[in-house]
Amino acid sequence: MLNNDNSEIDEVIDIVIEPYSNMLYKSKTLQDKKEVDDTIAAIKVDPNQTLNVETHLNYILYFLISGNKLPVGFKSMNAISPWILYWLICSLMILKDPPISMGSGMSLELIMSKLKKEALLKLRKFQYNISTHIENDNDDLLHSGFSGSFMQIPHLAPTFASVLTLKLTNNLEQFEFKDMKQWFMDLMTKDRHTGSYELKTSTPIGEFDARAFYCLLVSAKLCHIDLGLDYLETLWDMLVNSQSDLEGGLNGHDKDQESHGAYAFCTLSSIIIVLDQLRLLKPEKYKNKRLHDFINIDRFIDWLAHRQDVLNGGLSGRHNKLVDGCYAYWVGACGSILNIYGYINPINMPMLKSYILNYSQDNVNKNPGLRDKPGMNADFYHTNYILMGLSLCEYENEMYLPDTFCDAIDIKCNNVKGKQVHCVNPVYGLPIYVLTEVK
Ligand code: FPP
Ligand code: ZN
Repeated sequence: MLNNDNSEIDEVIDIVIEPYSNMLYKSKTLQDKKEVDDTIAAIKVDPNQTLNVETHLNYILYFLISGNKLPVGFKSMNAISPWILYWLICSLMILKDPPISMGSGMSLELIMSKLKKEALLKLRKFQYNISTHIENDNDDLLHSGFSGSFMQIPHLAPTFASVLTLKLTNNLEQFEFKDMKQWFMDLMTKDRHTGSYELKTSTPIGEFDARAFYCLLVSAKLCHIDLGLDYLETLWDMLVNSQSDLEGGLNGHDKDQESHGAYAFCTLSSIIIVLDQLRLLKPEKYKNKRLHDFINIDRFIDWLAHRQDVLNGGLSGRHNKLVDGCYAYWVGACGSILNIYGYINPINMPMLKSYILNYSQDNVNKNPGLRDKPGMNADFYHTNYILMGLSLCEYENEMYLPDTFCDAIDIKCNNVKGKQVHCVNPVYGLPIYVLTEVK
């Protein structure tokens, strides 16, 4: 017989909810998550929402064509000057058929030719003179890595951002990189205590993390710097031994450490770039090898799957953290890369696209630019990586390698019609059309 008295059930619910409420009360992360969930729940999802191209274009152009003079409040960003150039120029070049003349009165060609000149002038001053260690106007001496601004030491992160900017503006051929290889070699050091190799982002001081591998490898590839078999195999050993034992994510550093979406991206992409070269240099060992021969792909896929919030489709960088639009690229690209290389992409890309279009842009007030999450302001970094993430969603299942083992720089795409953004190479972080002539 059915008993309509629910008191026992209520009691059980109380017992379950009580500790949860306690947790909610005490845990900053859970409080933040609840706040984000509530803010997101208040936004009505439009399944037909598209990218507010004009609004974002105005945001990008406002900063790009105002003589590169950022407002005074941006002063603290001085040390990331090449990044600002890369984020803004890449954002502009990802947009498909941007209605430029509406806002600026200039054609896209004119804007690109101005940007080409300005990027060249600016980045010339940031390339380091390894032989004299002082900033020097003599072009012949400026042949090493790039720093984040005037009179700073070179670092792999601004070097990567500079090289990508030069590629986007078709300026790479204007530069020489004859000291770059030696600088890359100097960044590899041996730990005095363990005897194991480490790659630093800068020297004499610098960080050891997965960004170093990725920034170095992409820069070397685009600048046609041959790193040599020994160097590549040393990097390879470090890379394939950096899958977190605890979680299965790639962290690029240490099996005992936590994984993170951005470092997982840097590690996975680095593994792909090194393997592309080892297959040619040492075919007897690497020719027919695939990713699962070196990393536990099932555990990695499982870790990746847990990055997605099943309610709103957004991605987080690590366990117990909040969704953030920039992971649409860092984590989304890991999913796209797996897909291109014949594995399952555990990220639900239509749901990710819905997160981007409904929550990463402000559809109510039409505030320009793209943002981490509702309630936050847009910025250059998020605008670029969210546009790239959107591209990965739009070209889901359309990207492919012409031959199973060909170089990742040759990734191609189908069906470009009807898309709002260009197809981005998930490994190199540049629109595919920019990379076509790199060999
Ligand atoms: C965590 O911050 C973020 C990091 C620890 C690293 C961020 C790294 C990148 C964005 C990638 C850099 C890549 C290149 C190519 C240079 P958090 O703890 O505030 O973020 P979370 O809450 O989302 O984990
Ligand atoms: Zn972010």
